[in-house]
Amino acid sequence: MSLFLLTRTLPEDATEAALRADVQQGLGRNPKTLPPKWFYDAHGSELFEQITELPEYYPTRAEREILIDRADEIAAATGARTLVELGSGSSEKTRHLIDALAGLHTYVPVDVSESALTQAGHALVAERPGLNVHALIADFTARLALPDTPGPRLVAFLGGTIGNLLPAERAEFLASVRALLSPGDALLLGTDLVKDEKVLVRAYDDAAGVTAAFNKNVLSVVNRELGADFDPGAFDHVALWDTGNEWIEMRLRSRTQQTVKIPALDLAVDFAAGEDLHTEISAKFRKGGVRAELAAAGMELTHWWTDGEGRFALSLSVAR
Ligand code: SAH
Ligand code: AVI
Repeated sequence: MSLFLLTRTLPEDATEAALRADVQQGLGRNPKTLPPKWFYDAHGSELFEQITELPEYYPTRAEREILIDRADEIAAATGARTLVELGSGSSEKTRHLIDALAGLHTYVPVDVSESALTQAGHALVAERPGLNVHALIADFTARLALPDTPGPRLVAFLGGTIGNLLPAERAEFLASVRALLSPGDALLLGTDLVKDEKVLVRAYDDAAGVTAAFNKNVLSVVNRELGADFDPGAFDHVALWDTGNEWIEMRLRSRTQQTVKIPALDLAVDFAAGEDLHTEISAKFRKGGVRAELAAAGMELTHWWTDGEGRFALSLSVAR
């Protein structure tokens, strides 16, 4: 018998309060900024799934290739009985890992997207008899209270989502992951790697415009939740490579001088023509940098695997 449990770690009004605070602060900054976690309402989660199938968006395929090749090795190295996955989304690639972990007792997907968690959770318990799924609606940058399940515990953070955090946020996040690890536990981390600028920019500015729709979806979320009157058509999707920081930046560029009203915050926000709203960074990594960031958080990198074309890396680390 399989079991599916869904725990909301924060009351619904706390999520709305967090959105209000992020919009109030982010649109008051120069440059204006919104955190990427607000892309992922049900529509945004669906758009992200479409992105993963785009010809230009290689990270999902590259990471899936590594997982298929290395799942048995990861299973042997960790012997995990509990698999915690942060930012699990559809859990699609994770199935390779779940199938390889012979002694797996409980899978704990953690995400802010309730729709992604319920869809993935119901599908998994139906497909895999005997697997317990305890999903957590939670912000992985906040302190996580994990269910009491048997160790060893493997914490997976796939997709390169760590690249969506700023360097200081990454340091804080990795320290909090380290705090979840007991002796014998491990972290499986997916990192997209630095590569040719054209390949990178194309991955974030696809010909079909799906990434543009994903980027603009954050405006629809603010409209729906806070009664704002953003016109997504009045903004252009921008993806650019920052050579110094080695990250892709996604922005929404105002096509005209305009004022957006946000009644729930009693706010009117002016945009100049050509002004950018910063919506996401997606940092790309090198092995030395990943090793150093893990070490700074008290972890030691023990395995490093890449896909055949060297585009993406999965690493395994343990607490020092
Ligand atoms: N791991 C999946 C999904 C990546 S998309 C993959 O590799 O394909 C990023 C996921 O992280 C989304 O499902 C999004 O809802 C979730 N997410 C983004 N920010 C989050 C946060 N702060 N806390 C929890 N989940 C978050
Ligand atoms: C979830 N994350 C790793 C994606 C990325 O590639 O940074 C989000 C994304 N943004 C645009 N396309 C995909």
